[in-house]
Amino acid sequence: MVIDKRVAYIYSQRYNSLVDQLPQNINRASIVHGLIQAYSLDQKMQIIGHQHGSMEDLCTFHDPDYVEYLLKCEQEDDFNEEYGLQDDCPPVENMGEYIQLLGGASIQAAGNIVENKCDICIHWNGGRHHAQMAEASGFCYFNDVVTSALRLRSHFKRVLIIDIDAHHGDGTQDAFYYSDSVFCVSFHRFEPGFFPSTGSMQEIGAGKGKFCNLNIPLKEGLTQKQYQNIYDHVISECLNNFSPDCVILVAGADGLANDPARSLNLTDLSFALDLLLQQNVPLLLLGAGGYNNANTARCWTLMTARCLKETLCEQIPYHGYYSLYQPSYELSIHANHMKNSNTDEDIQCLRNHIEQFFCGYKEFHVRK
Ligand code: FE2
Repeated sequence: MVIDKRVAYIYSQRYNSLVDQLPQNINRASIVHGLIQAYSLDQKMQIIGHQHGSMEDLCTFHDPDYVEYLLKCEQEDDFNEEYGLQDDCPPVENMGEYIQLLGGASIQAAGNIVENKCDICIHWNGGRHHAQMAEASGFCYFNDVVTSALRLRSHFKRVLIIDIDAHHGDGTQDAFYYSDSVFCVSFHRFEPGFFPSTGSMQEIGAGKGKFCNLNIPLKEGLTQKQYQNIYDHVISECLNNFSPDCVILVAGADGLANDPARSLNLTDLSFALDLLLQQNVPLLLLGAGGYNNANTARCWTLMTARCLKETLCEQIPYHGYYSLYQPSYELSIHANHMKNSNTDEDIQCLRNHIEQFFCGYKEFHVRK
């Protein structure tokens, strides 16, 4: 098949080995890359190796004192309450180098797009959307989504961030809540007790950023069909109204069926690329959550193939992590029997909100 988009892929063995050590994503980076390699997709992309981010790169968004602490935080007992380095964000071995490579990759990925070296850049180790300016949160120490978006924003007038991780992209929302040049839309489970408990329909941005923040709160067990219908509707509206010059897709895979996050009941995220690939705008494709390693690898490999317009065979090729794909040894993910709490009334309520939101957007941003 003809490849009509130039696809770049952030990868180095060292970077992956550091990400493999993160407590919630043990070995995930290597498992994902292993499947991409098993389908030979890596041979069809421009590989961008790791680069240590400079202090200036790392502080594009983050507070310099916080970054300094992360860089010096080499011991697993370097807990720090003020910076959120505890509980689900414990200090990890080689933290400083991990932060340098994640920050470096964020700038490199965006830089390659800005310099027109690629049309799509894939950074599966990115998508750390919960990190705040001076605080780690929700398994995220460094917010590469915001760092990349700021680099893109230095060149492009309007950046659209679409977050389809099952958890609300709170760190990203907070960073751009008052901005009218970065539009954030997040699809996530929003129910009492589900982290991070933000992301209601009422959070629509403020100041000149009013109506540039759209949340699509969902309940547990949403089906693939329901999700696709809402997503296509929302993203069409975002593209038509906001007319982005560049798009970031944060493709967390924890909404898939059988993810330990037990949130949604999805079987595929690659459909989310279709509307974006039809646009003549560059795309930065990021990872995020995804705690069933085999399904996350299936999902992101399929998304990588979609960017390359490659069709993959259903049988997983034999490779080093082959046994993880038992018992099916197939690429497809199947829905499970979890309860679907999303009623037709809930979906209609979302549709009404989307309609009102874009009426508000037009009123506030187009007619002013
Ligand atoms: Fe998540």
